[in-house]
Amino acid sequence: MIAALSHRAKAAPAGELAARLSAASVVRADEPLAGRTTLRVGGPADVYVEPADEADLAAGLAFCRERGLRWLLLGRGSNLLVRDGGFRGVVICLAQASFARVAVNGTTLAAGAGARLKTVAVEARRHGLGGLEFLEGIPGSVGGALRMNAGAMNAWTFEVLERVRFMAPDGAVHERPAAALPARYRGCPLFTDHVALEAVFRGRPADEAAIRQTMETFNRKRWESQPPQPSAGCMFKNPAAMPAGRLIDQLGLKGARVGGAMVSDVHANFIVNEGGATAGDVLALITRIRERVRSERGIELETEVEIVGED
Ligand code: EPU
Repeated sequence: MIAALSHRAKAAPAGELAARLSAASVVRADEPLAGRTTLRVGGPADVYVEPADEADLAAGLAFCRERGLRWLLLGRGSNLLVRDGGFRGVVICLAQASFARVAVNGTTLAAGAGARLKTVAVEARRHGLGGLEFLEGIPGSVGGALRMNAGAMNAWTFEVLERVRFMAPDGAVHERPAAALPARYRGCPLFTDHVALEAVFRGRPADEAAIRQTMETFNRKRWESQPPQPSAGCMFKNPAAMPAGRLIDQLGLKGARVGGAMVSDVHANFIVNEGGATAGDVLALITRIRERVRSERGIELETEVEIVGED
């Protein structure tokens, strides 16, 4: 009875939002999020929306503003930990085709925020555009990569970025050169409340076979050094002193467990879901790691993964 009532309470804003958007937009109430994250834990979103286009995205943001609802941009969920109680507000996902276009023009490649990074890397290769190979192994979307300044293999997103189109919270669309945006290691704070729409990446002409080989080398390195189980990638930012993985490994925490969550025995900066983990398990393990690192090394580990929602 209580569950039914609470579902109805959440269905109301979802219904009102749907009425504001075109029929091609997807709007759902009480949408499970665990399956939309790579860690595969966490509760539902009160409202979940896949806008059909930029006009519907702007209308969705306006709805949230009017109602005082929190919103969260969900990419491919590879850097996200949703708490078990779920997200009170509106989760927006640019999963529709209009946000996923990828086009090469000379030595630049334009990609919608919803496009997969793997698609970007493969399209760049197909057009003989080098320098974007590192994106291949990052299990995220273009929008997520902008938000996180995602990186791998000693390269990072803003390094190969020329310009970005994005939507401000008031629905206005802007375009800025990458150099004008405040990016840093594993983050670009602008995208906490602005929505990336499209990125233009810069490559350099290269031989397709050489690009393929670089991608294969990166792929092999990743399989050798990172675990295959569900995870959110690296859990902590690397502190200045040394990489978090080495630090946690040195403290003997590989294999440490809470419920179904475990510090990977392949890479100590990965917490893997061994099956049946809850967000609570993962959070308890994060706390245990941070306490050990603080007490034994005096270092304050900061999560790289974004933690959202209610307990
Ligand atoms: N190491 C250990 N034990 C471990 C793990 C690592 O001793 O269990 C050592 C390694 O031997 C190496 C050093 O720590 O000497 C660094 O490890 P690695 O080369 O794996 O790189 P990382 O700093 O842990 C970073 C990014 C990764 C990215 C890799 C590869 C961060 C927090 N992580 O990892 O990004 O894939 O480089 O380029 O910056 C992510 O952001 O989610 C992520 C996985």
